[in-house]
Amino acid sequence: MDFPYQDRYEINRRLPAQGRPRGEVLAELREMATEEDAFWETGKCSGTMYCGDHEHYDFMTEAFRLYAHVNALQRDMCPSVTKFESEIIAMVLDLMHAEAIDDTEPVGLVTTGGTGSILHAMLAYRERAQETVGIWAPNVIKPETAHPAFDKACHLFDIQVRVAPVDPVTTKVDTEWVANNIDDQTVALIGSACNYGYGTVDPIDELSELALAHDIGLHVDSCLGGFILPFGQELGYDIPVFDFRIPGVTSISADTHKYGYAFKGSSTLLFRDKPLRNAQYFYLTDWTGGKYCSPGIEGSRSAGIIAATWAAMVQLGRDGYRRYAEKIFNTSGAMQEAVRSHPELRILGDPTFLFSFTSDDFDIYHVNDFMRPRGWRFNGQQYPNALHMAVTRPQTQPGVAEAFAIDLDEAVAYAKENAENTAASSAIYGGVMGGMTDEADSFIKMVMADLLDSQQRVPPE
Ligand SMILES: Cc1ncc(COP(=O)(O)O)c(C=O)c1O
Repeated sequence: MDFPYQDRYEINRRLPAQGRPRGEVLAELREMATEEDAFWETGKCSGTMYCGDHEHYDFMTEAFRLYAHVNALQRDMCPSVTKFESEIIAMVLDLMHAEAIDDTEPVGLVTTGGTGSILHAMLAYRERAQETVGIWAPNVIKPETAHPAFDKACHLFDIQVRVAPVDPVTTKVDTEWVANNIDDQTVALIGSACNYGYGTVDPIDELSELALAHDIGLHVDSCLGGFILPFGQELGYDIPVFDFRIPGVTSISADTHKYGYAFKGSSTLLFRDKPLRNAQYFYLTDWTGGKYCSPGIEGSRSAGIIAATWAAMVQLGRDGYRRYAEKIFNTSGAMQEAVRSHPELRILGDPTFLFSFTSDDFDIYHVNDFMRPRGWRFNGQQYPNALHMAVTRPQTQPGVAEAFAIDLDEAVAYAKENAENTAASSAIYGGVMGGMTDEADSFIKMVMADLLDSQQRVPPE
């Protein structure tokens, strides 16, 4: 595989003996960044570029610049970071209706991303259950559709994950299965609002009843939906309540770096009750280097990211988020309509701003094969093979939803013509027919390891 830009710029295999002029370095960065931005600026790329507004990026960059060199760990030197972090938490608690909590003290953490929030939540449940009820072999129950960050957290923290099936039509978790698999070592249930795959919301009210009946936690993963679904509710879309108004919800993750339109590297994690958050605080009181404590897993943290996140939130305000949400919901509605106009295509579940579609007539990856050269970048799914489109602000530009409808018409015709052939992109994204064998699993992991390796090494001289 070619190393990126190997024909244009020198490959730095070792620290340069002499430094280069700043202008030259910046020019090189500018060239690469500008060209790469052109890829998603078309509005044809699912998810990932939630904001896409360069003026907003410039504004946040200015906020970041003022604090880029500051370490949020050293609060005596930057009391302003306490203002930013506390206010970010307060604002997200407000968004998640923490005012409904009257018997405990709702609190939060600012983390570095969705995975970070989920890791901290799982650690908190493990630690709290250990200290209060002496659970030493904890398990959690997650819907199959919940993000792999839960599996990663459980792997890291030695928690067993029980994977609950979802209804193939609604894509929501089977709560009867969940009920039947809770035992005396279960520390928390998990629900998504919404899940990454289908954009659907699990029955948080039913999970809440189970959690309350068993006196265990319920984490709602709203990493993706946290900054858009509440505004969808305000706009009158049929989105079920999933926040602290539901009494069994004990923690919620909501990513500022997704629909919060902050820079990558920031998320929030909210807790119904302070002792749960504090269960994962870390202290080392007898270290020769001094007394040490940190609110979460990280040590030093960028005050720049925290300042820029705060700046984004107070600059946009509720009306800013609602305005963008409205455009996104409208665009998603138009795109879903285009999908529904084809009887050969089927939308999975009952989604909102993010939808996923498949076909019972042909491999949906034929549609991907056709649309990719037209600049569309969907996220590929499996079991069943499906294409996922998380609608973000770049798609709300004029003409994008219309272009989607036109290209989809042609893609469906292409897929029908090629239904007997193997779709090229299903080899990359699609599920293995007949389920995953041990051999296929090892092979895919080997390919993935090669890919990850290749992203972190320079080619030999
Ligand atoms: C529902 C959901 N949860 C968690 C995550 C993990 O977030 P991150 O990639 O920021 O770690 C994602 C990412 O897309 C997500 O969609």
